[in-house]
Amino acid sequence: MKADEARRRHAALSQEIEDLAYRYYVLAQPSVSDSEYDTKMRELSALEDKWPDLRTPDSPTQKVMESLSTDFRAVTHLERLLSLDNVFSDEEFAAWSARATREVPVPSWLCELKIDGLAVDLVYENGRLARAATRGDGVTGEDVTLNVRTIASVPNKLAGTAVPELLEVRGEVFLPTGAFAQLNERLGDEGRTPFANPRNAAAGSLRQKDPRVTATRPLAMTIHGLGARRGFDVTSQSAAYGALRELGLPVSSRYQVVDSLDGVREYVAYWGEHRHDVEHDIDGVVVKVDDFGLQGRLGSTSKSPRWAVAWKYPPEEVTTKLEAIVVNVGRTGRVTPFGRLQPVHVGGVTVTAATLHNEDEVRRKGVLVGDTVVVRRAGDVIPEIVGPVLANRTGDETPFVMPANCPECQTPLVRPEGEADTRCPNTVSCPAQLRESVFHFAGRGALDIDGLGYETATVLLEQGRLHDVGDVFHLRPESFEDLRGFGPKKIDQILAGIEAGRHRPLWRLLVGLSIRHVGPTAAQALAREFRSLDAIAAASADELAAVEGVGPTIAAAVVDWFGDERHREIVERIRAGGAQVEDSGPAAGPGPLAGITVVITGTLPTYSRDAAAAAVQERGGKVSGSVSKKTSFVVVGDAPGSKYDNAVKLGVPILHEDGLVTLLEQGPDAALKISQPSADTPTG
Ligand code: IVH
Repeated sequence: MKADEARRRHAALSQEIEDLAYRYYVLAQPSVSDSEYDTKMRELSALEDKWPDLRTPDSPTQKVMESLSTDFRAVTHLERLLSLDNVFSDEEFAAWSARATREVPVPSWLCELKIDGLAVDLVYENGRLARAATRGDGVTGEDVTLNVRTIASVPNKLAGTAVPELLEVRGEVFLPTGAFAQLNERLGDEGRTPFANPRNAAAGSLRQKDPRVTATRPLAMTIHGLGARRGFDVTSQSAAYGALRELGLPVSSRYQVVDSLDGVREYVAYWGEHRHDVEHDIDGVVVKVDDFGLQGRLGSTSKSPRWAVAWKYPPEEVTTKLEAIVVNVGRTGRVTPFGRLQPVHVGGVTVTAATLHNEDEVRRKGVLVGDTVVVRRAGDVIPEIVGPVLANRTGDETPFVMPANCPECQTPLVRPEGEADTRCPNTVSCPAQLRESVFHFAGRGALDIDGLGYETATVLLEQGRLHDVGDVFHLRPESFEDLRGFGPKKIDQILAGIEAGRHRPLWRLLVGLSIRHVGPTAAQALAREFRSLDAIAAASADELAAVEGVGPTIAAAVVDWFGDERHREIVERIRAGGAQVEDSGPAAGPGPLAGITVVITGTLPTYSRDAAAAAVQERGGKVSGSVSKKTSFVVVGDAPGSKYDNAVKLGVPILHEDGLVTLLEQGPDAALKISQPSADTPTG
C-alpha cells in the first residue's frame, strides 16, 4: 500500500469508526457487532503502526470514544443567517407587500408556518453532515453537531444520486408539544424544574453538553432556507423544498404556493384557526417571494430580507407582573387562589387575573407576589400562570400565604387531611357561597334563567330580597321594589326567565343545587334513573352508586347533601315556588356522553364500527371522522389508520375496546383513567 492510499484508507476508516462509536455511545443504537467494530479499530491501528505520522491526537485510536461531548466552540456560518421583519395585521401586511411589489411584480408567494423553535444551520459536505451550529448572532453560532446528529429527522448522509458537493441549509429545531408535556411530567416526577414552554425545552435539550441526554429528547427539525451551496441549482423556494426532500431532508408538507395576496390571507386565516392542530407551536406564518431571481432583485437589509416577512399571530405567552395573590370562595365553599395581574394582552384578549387552583399549585409553580410571571393563553383555554421569570427577581417578592379565615364571612378555613382544596365550611350564610350558588343555579349549565346574572344575584342577596337558591322561585315584582336599575322591563325579563326555569328538566335542577361532584353527566344519569328529586333524596348511597355514571364519591356527596336539613328545606321552598322537581314523559335531556366527541379507527374485536358509533350516539356523544385537539377519545382497533397517529401527535386519549366499554358504561371520567395517554407512544 502506498502512503497516500494509506492516508485515504485511514481517513475513511476513522470517519466510519467515529460514526459507529457515536451510534454506540450516544444513540445507544449500535449498527454493527462489537467484533466488527474491534476489527476496524485493529486495522486502523495497524495502519498507524506502519505509517506513524497518521497517529495524530484526533485519531480514534488516541481518543476516549466514550466521552463524546459537545464543545460548543464558535463556528462561523458560511452565509449569514438573516432575521425576519414582522407584521401583525392585514394593514401591515398590505403595506409590506405594496413595498415589495412596487419593486418587482410577484407572481407567486410561498406561505409556510412559522415554527416557534430555534434556528439551526447545517452544513453538508459531499452529502455528509459536517457541522451543525446554533444561529448565534447570525454570523457566528455554537457547534452543536453531535447533538443535532441525535435528531431522528436530520439525516447524517443525504439520500439519492444528485448529492451536492456543498449544501448549507437552515431550519427550526423544535420539540413537539406532546413530547414537551411528557418531558415536563418526567422532570416533575424527578423533582427537577420543568421547562416553561416547548421552545425553551428544545433549546435546553439541544444545548446539552452530553449528547446522550439530547438523544433522549424527541427533537425534530424542519428546514426553511438555504445558505451556501455548490452543485445544488434550483430557481425557487418551492423547487428547493422539492429537491431538499429528495435528498432526505425534513421539509414541511404544510407550505403552499399561492398566486395572490388573497391567497396569502386565506392561508394565514386557515392556520390561525388550526394553529393547535399542528404538532408543534407556531407563532405565525412566513410569507416568501417564491422565485429566487425575484428574491435576489429585492435583496436584503442588513438584518432581514425584503422578500420575506413573518405575519405573527397574537402571542399566546407573555410576561407581566403578578401584583397579588388573592382568594376566591366558590359555590361549594372551595377557596381558590388566583393571581391579580398587571393587565396584559395575550391570545387575543386582555388578561387581568389567572387562577392558581390551590395552595399546592402556587408552591409547585414557585411564584411569589411581585414576580414577573409568564402568562399563557392558548386557544380557548383559560389564561394560566406558567411560572416566574427568575431573572427578574429583586428580592422584594413575598410568598403567598393561604388566609386563615374566609375573606367574606371570617369563618376559619379548613383543609381536610389529604385534600388539595381549602374550604370555607360556612355553607349556610357565607355571602360568597350564596352569591356564587345563586349565579350558578340560574346559569346556562343549570336552570338557564335569563336575566338573573351575577349582578342581579348580588344585589338581591345584599338587599335581603333573596337568601339562597330556595328563594329564586318566590321572587315577584315586589321583590325589586326600590332597587336601582330594575325597571319594569328588566323585572319582566327576570320573571319570565324564572317562569321558564320552573319547567326545566330535572337534571338541570340537580346541577343547580351545587352538590359537590354533581355535574351534568352525573345529574343526567341520576335523573334518568330516579325521575324525581324525592326519589334521589330517598335513595341510599348504594342505590345511587349503582347507577351507570355515578360512583361512590358522587353517591356519598348526594347522600351528604340531602342529609342536611337546611338543604331539604331549600328543596321544599323550590317545590313550593312551583318548580318541576320530577321528569315527566320519556327520559329527557342529553345522555351521559353529551359534549364528548369520539373517533373510531381500525377493526374492533367484537363491536362493529357502526354498533360502536351508535352506542356512543345513543348516550348523547358525537362520532367524528377526523381527529383534532377537540376530540375527546380515539377508539383504536386492529390496523388503525392515520387517525391513530394524529391522536398520538395531538395527545388525544386513546381507548381500546375495553376502554370503549368503560366509556359507555361508566362515562368519560372512568374511560380517561384507563385511556392510553399518548405518553406511552413515542412522538417525533
Ligand atoms: S425564513 C431569510 N421560515 O423565525 C429568512 N424562518 O423571526 C429567514 N422561523 O430566524 C428565515 N419558522 O429561525 C423562516 N418557516 C420559517 C420559519 C422561520 C421559524 C424562525 C427563524 C428566523 C426567525 C425570525
